[in-house]
Amino acid sequence: MNVTDIKVIGVIGAGQMGSGIAQVSASFGYRTLLTDVDVEIARRGKAKIGAILEKQVAKGKLSEAAREKALARIEPKETAALAEADFVIEAATENVGLKLRILREVEGRLKKEAILASNTSSISITQLAGAVSRASQVIGMHFMNPVPVMKLVEIIRAIQTSPETYEATRALATTLGKTVITAKDQPAFVVNRMLVPFLVEACFALQEGLATAEDIDQGARLGLNHPMGPLELADFVGLDTLLAIAEILHRDFGDDKYRPPVLLRNMVAAGWYGKKAGHGFYVYDDNGQKLKPG
Ligand code: CAA
Ligand code: NAD
Repeated sequence: MNVTDIKVIGVIGAGQMGSGIAQVSASFGYRTLLTDVDVEIARRGKAKIGAILEKQVAKGKLSEAAREKALARIEPKETAALAEADFVIEAATENVGLKLRILREVEGRLKKEAILASNTSSISITQLAGAVSRASQVIGMHFMNPVPVMKLVEIIRAIQTSPETYEATRALATTLGKTVITAKDQPAFVVNRMLVPFLVEACFALQEGLATAEDIDQGARLGLNHPMGPLELADFVGLDTLLAIAEILHRDFGDDKYRPPVLLRNMVAAGWYGKKAGHGFYVYDDNGQKLKPG
């Protein structure tokens, strides 16, 4: 598969990452098939993209015609429609069992030359590739959140990934306006290897009563010039996703320095997944505006 052969992009998972990927894909002219467990979730994903594009029109950053065109290219579909895709990006929940099942299920429906990329934050691409017969066409394509804003895509080669798959994926990321870095296939790759211990350490600091959530975040914003503090960012990423990444780092490196704090486990057990759930280290209103510490 050459990048010029890619006309239709399939996205599996219409949550914050899948819908962000679909927005970018459609904005750069690709027909985009958006899928989830239920087509209704994919429709809701498309509606959220519509609202974001609407705001850009209101700010004068996008023309009404460009908004309409981009939105028309996004098609909420059942998984069977992925048969039409040339390049599929899996962006479902961060759970290895789930991702293996999804890849096995969809593979049989895809064109034989289609590339299967995963947006996983931490899971072994080599393990995912091992689950399907097109292992050489499997790759990690790690977009950052929020996808339309963040300039990076981290590409991860499984040991089975072919040079052609890598080159097509790299060229696609560039065509989508992103800058690429390449990582070896090790737990959490490069970006989350650096980020997740930082976010987890902030949870430990809160758990120990070292400072309030607001002061921890203020410390990073004003003391380190980070756009968000680590607890705000943890809420933004999703505490379920953060815990899943920390567990992979801890288990796969076998090093206790990556152990997740009990506070994080308890918050996930309570369903306090962060901004997307309206409750995490902070409480949010229905528009995602931060109200107060949680
Ligand atoms: N989707 C699309 N666009 C968004 C958006 C979203 N969810 N959130 C903000 N934007 C856009 C806004 O529309 C605005 O666009 P314009 O400049 O065109 O008007 C722009 O981003 C800036 O937004 P705001 O002015 O509302 O807010 P801000 O200046 O505070 O920026 C932010 C918001 C970009 C999210 C910024 O706070 C930031 O960079 N935070 C850190 C993000 C980060 O670290 N991401 C990486 C997470 S880790 C990861 O992704 C890997 C993983 O596997 C976990
Ligand atoms: P999310 O919770 O917002 O969305 C996950 C979506 O996956 C949901 O819509 C859910 O219905 C869907 N899903 C679950 N099971 C499915 C199935 N069997 N088939 C199809 N869809 C299914 O999560 P997210 O933040 O969008 O994360 C998605 C992926 O992207 C994860 O692998 C995550 O690690 C990765 N990622 C997340 C971030 C982040 O900051 N949140 C950044 C980069 C990468």
